[in-house]
Amino acid sequence: MIRRPPRSTPKPSSAASDVYKRQSLENASIFMPLKKQQIDWDGLGFEALPTRSMWKGECSTGEEWTDGDLVPYGDVNLSPAACVLNYGQGVFEGMKAYHTAKDRIVMFRPDKNSARMQKSTQRICIPTMNDEYFMKAVLSTVKDNIDYIPPYGKGTMYVRPISFGISKAISVQPASKYLFIVFTSPVGSYFKGDAKVLHLFLSDEFHRAAPKGIGNAKAIGNYSASLFPGMQAKSNGYNDMIYVHAKNEQIIEEMGAANLFAVSNGELLTPKLGGSILDGVTRDSVITIAKEILNLKVKEIDIEIERLLKAEEVFCCGTAVEVTCVGKISTKEKEYIIGNGDYGPKTLSIKKHLIQIQKEEIDDPFGWIHPI
Ligand code: PLP
Ligand code: COI
Repeated sequence: MIRRPPRSTPKPSSAASDVYKRQSLENASIFMPLKKQQIDWDGLGFEALPTRSMWKGECSTGEEWTDGDLVPYGDVNLSPAACVLNYGQGVFEGMKAYHTAKDRIVMFRPDKNSARMQKSTQRICIPTMNDEYFMKAVLSTVKDNIDYIPPYGKGTMYVRPISFGISKAISVQPASKYLFIVFTSPVGSYFKGDAKVLHLFLSDEFHRAAPKGIGNAKAIGNYSASLFPGMQAKSNGYNDMIYVHAKNEQIIEEMGAANLFAVSNGELLTPKLGGSILDGVTRDSVITIAKEILNLKVKEIDIEIERLLKAEEVFCCGTAVEVTCVGKISTKEKEYIIGNGDYGPKTLSIKKHLIQIQKEEIDDPFGWIHPI
C-alpha cells in the first residue's frame, strides 16, 4: 500500500526545501538529492498523490506570464462561474522526471511540451507563455519535490502543467484571468494491473475530436469527450478505445491518451498529423528512433482500419503509456489478434531504445535529455 505523505504537507519554505533550493535552484550544476520520501515505490499506480509543493501563477488577458511561485500543494478556490467550469477553457501538458542510471534527475524533451503548451493555449484563447516562464515553473516544481521522484528502476515522476480561465463567464467568452499550475506525482504503470499487452476496442460509435476542432490541442474538452467511450470499453473488458477519423471513419486516429503505430510489411506507419490528432512528443521520438537508430522506413499516412487489423505489430505511445504493445483489437463484429498477440521485435526494440535513453542507460544521440 502506498504510504501517502501527510495531508498538511510542509510549506515549500521548510528548512529542508530551503537547503535544497540553495543547492539546486541557485546553483543548478550542483546536484545533491535529498533522502527519498517514505513511499511504497513498488506499489505505485497512475494516481495523483500529493507532494510538497506546486507552482501557481496568475495572468490577465493582455498581460505577460511573469507572476508565480511555489506554494504548498493543495486545492484551489474557484467561482462557480469560472470560465473553465462552465466552458472548459483549460489546457494541460504531461511530462516526466526520471531518476536515471547516472544517479541524476532528468526530464525528457521539455522544450517540446513548452512549444505544444503555446499552441494549445493559443487555440483556446489563453494568454501564451514563453519557454523561459514555462521552464522556470516546471523545473522549480520538480526540484522542490525531488524527493518524491521514484528511485532508479521504480517508476517516474509525472509532471502536470495546467492553465485555465478562472474569471466569471456566464455568456460564452474567454476569461479575463487565468491560472497556471504545475503539480507532480510519483507514478508507476498507466494501465491497470500493469497490463503489458493491450486489448483495444475500435469503434465509430463515438469520435474523440473533429478535424477542425481542438483535437490537436491538449485541451481538457477532448478528454471529456473520451470519458464515456473509454469507460464503456473498460467495463466491457478492453483496456481502452481506438478512435476513427470523424470525417472518414475508414481511417484510424489515436487513443484517448496516446498515439498509435502499426508495423505493416516491415514499415512503421502512424496516422499523419494535421487534423485532430495530438502531436505527441513520444510519437516524434519513436519516429526518430525508428529512422535514425533502427533504419526503419517510417510513413505518416492515412491508415485504413483493414490495414491496422492485418498489421504485424501495433503499439501505442505517449508520456503516460510509454510504448505499450497492442496484442488484440476488437470491433463490434470480431476479435483480431495482432501478430502473435505479444510484443513483436520492432515494438520491443523501439520501446527499449526509448526507455534506455530516458533512463540514461545508453547515450542520448539526439540531445533530448534535460538534466536538472
Ligand atoms: N494523444 C493524446 C490524446 C494524448 O493525450 C497524449 C498524451 O499526452 C498523446 C497522444 C501522447 O503525447 P505525448 O507523447 O506528448 O505524451
Ligand atoms: C500523457 O501521456 O502525458 C497524457 O497527457 C495522457 C493523460 C491523459 C494521462
